[in-house]
Amino acid sequence: MIRIAIVGTGWIGGIHADRLKRCAGAELAYVFDIRKEAAQAFAAQHGGVVADTVEEACAKADAVIIASSTGSHEAVALACVEAGKPFLVEKPVAQDQAAAIRVRDAALAARIPSMVGFNRRFHPGYSEIRSAIADGRIGNVESLRFTVKTATPPTAEFLKTSGGLFGEFGIHFFDLACWLTDDVPVEVFAMGSILTDESYRAVGQIDTAAAIVRMSRGALFQLDIGWRSTYGHDERLEVFGSKGVFRAGGDVITMPLSGVRTPEEAARRLPDWFERFEATYLIELDGFVSLVNGGSAIGASLQDGLVAQVMADAAARSVATNRPVAFDVATRGHEAGDTA
Ligand SMILES: NC(=O)c1ccc[n+]([C@@H]2O[C@H](COP(=O)([O-])OP(=O)(O)OC[C@H]3O[C@@H](n4cnc5c(N)ncnc54)[C@H](O)[C@@H]3O)[C@@H](O)[C@H]2O)c1
Repeated sequence: MIRIAIVGTGWIGGIHADRLKRCAGAELAYVFDIRKEAAQAFAAQHGGVVADTVEEACAKADAVIIASSTGSHEAVALACVEAGKPFLVEKPVAQDQAAAIRVRDAALAARIPSMVGFNRRFHPGYSEIRSAIADGRIGNVESLRFTVKTATPPTAEFLKTSGGLFGEFGIHFFDLACWLTDDVPVEVFAMGSILTDESYRAVGQIDTAAAIVRMSRGALFQLDIGWRSTYGHDERLEVFGSKGVFRAGGDVITMPLSGVRTPEEAARRLPDWFERFEATYLIELDGFVSLVNGGSAIGASLQDGLVAQVMADAAARSVATNRPVAFDVATRGHEAGDTA
């Protein structure tokens, strides 16, 4: 039985703890949070022993799930490397690309198995699109268009220690664009606005953005993203290829929704993001346990996480400078898994 430590006992830590109860071959053994009372409440609810330090949690556990705030990922991941323990780090790998490089290089040098929590890769819809592209069913990919609007925006407080709109939310789609097309990005141009929540301004955050990324084989990937949807979680993808188009999202809204006010509108409301992606976390966890047991890596590697982070950082820089940004970090390399 693999004894897991969960570091970070907030929202996603609870999701992983719930999944661990249903995961054969692993159990929650230790928990750590900088807020000790939160860790104690978490242990009372989910089990596990509260560790006094992150080092203690890493030393005692067989493997670690890093579910703490984004700004702490680097330090916790390096503690795992120091202790020689495999880890699953929630996305994004770290707060910026320089930190993500340090994490990747340390884990590679110490040959520590690791995985990044890009859970959307485990959704059957996205897997199907990846297969359709790989099989050549839609021909050469010429463009991809993601529309993603969330009904559950973060608070300005959360965003203070986060990667922002691109680093927290957009990063899922930066990763998917690369994974679905088996390609790497070369350049991005993005614009952003503050339209949904004025409190974001004080913490230097945007809430609405559009980004265009040129991939290395020429395909253009467009991302229309925002922290507001009044009609439920909207997540749609169209992939245009030389032989046809693939559309995903499934939730066709034929009338404009001005917010869910009437029962008719409520009935048409799109499901929340968690409802759509809930099943992916258990598949991800099973993959991680298999990796800890010596199985081959599935899901996103630290290199994949770094590439998505490079895209997110560059998109934010493009918004700030109002210019296209070419990537200053190689996006190829270490593609076959971080311990290779
Ligand atoms: N894959 C997904 O679908 C998904 C969804 C939500 C969040 N996330 C990611 O998970 C992480 C946490 O998000 P959340 O929504 O659970 O946030 P949260 O604010 O609910 O929880 C974060 C927890 O981390 C703790 N923490 C902060 N610094 C710490 C440190 N140095 N050591 C130990 N604990 C520390 C905080 O006290 C808090 O309890 C973020 O990186 C976020 O991007 C991923």
